[in-house]
Amino acid sequence: MNFVPPIKECNLCPRLCEFRAKNQQKYPHYHNGPVTPFGELSAEILIVGLAPGLNGANQTNRPFTNDYAGDVLYPILKKYGFAKGEYQKRKDDGYELINVRITNAVRCVPPENKPTTEEEKTCRQFLIKEINAMPNLKIILSLGTISHKNVLQALGLKQSFAKFKHGEIYQLPTRQNLWLIDSYHTSRYNINTGVLTYEMFEEIIKKIQELLNK
Ligand code: URA
Repeated sequence: MNFVPPIKECNLCPRLCEFRAKNQQKYPHYHNGPVTPFGELSAEILIVGLAPGLNGANQTNRPFTNDYAGDVLYPILKKYGFAKGEYQKRKDDGYELINVRITNAVRCVPPENKPTTEEEKTCRQFLIKEINAMPNLKIILSLGTISHKNVLQALGLKQSFAKFKHGEIYQLPTRQNLWLIDSYHTSRYNINTGVLTYEMFEEIIKKIQELLNK
């Protein structure tokens, strides 16, 4: 398939490279590079997160793996039949996604979990390639506003086309039978503050099941 991920030594974002070099010194056993998407390109569902966490995906080289957000996301995906195996916070834990692929708007860990607009823009080429390389793609689940914004931009759509709203489903004009669904990010902050509950996230996954059967 015509899909070119960023190389491990990707040096397109100076600030992220500088941060990576520091992390390489501090955590030499971590992955410290653009995090590889998880799941098959043949999947019908693409989940787009924000960016890897320093001690999570940036360590394990699997999105959301060893990140708090993954502790919420992965067991719920399994509960609804979108994964098998036991999620154990490691890339080699045998946990497998079913009909789902997971990636991030920005593939390298940013300082304080906040990519700049420029970094989002630079990394977007990989999100575009990824979306284009998924022939069966039917549903994009955006986790949080930054993911939502970047997905619209990757699809060449204006922000005015769709406002971020938890639980909202948008039919996308770019491809036939392609849907965008928004959810608050499964971050520790959102869970601890009650912005997102496990039940609310399960409702999102149920909506995805319904859309798949449409
Ligand atoms: N949060 C994200 O948005 N993505 C990850 O890969 C990990 C945490």
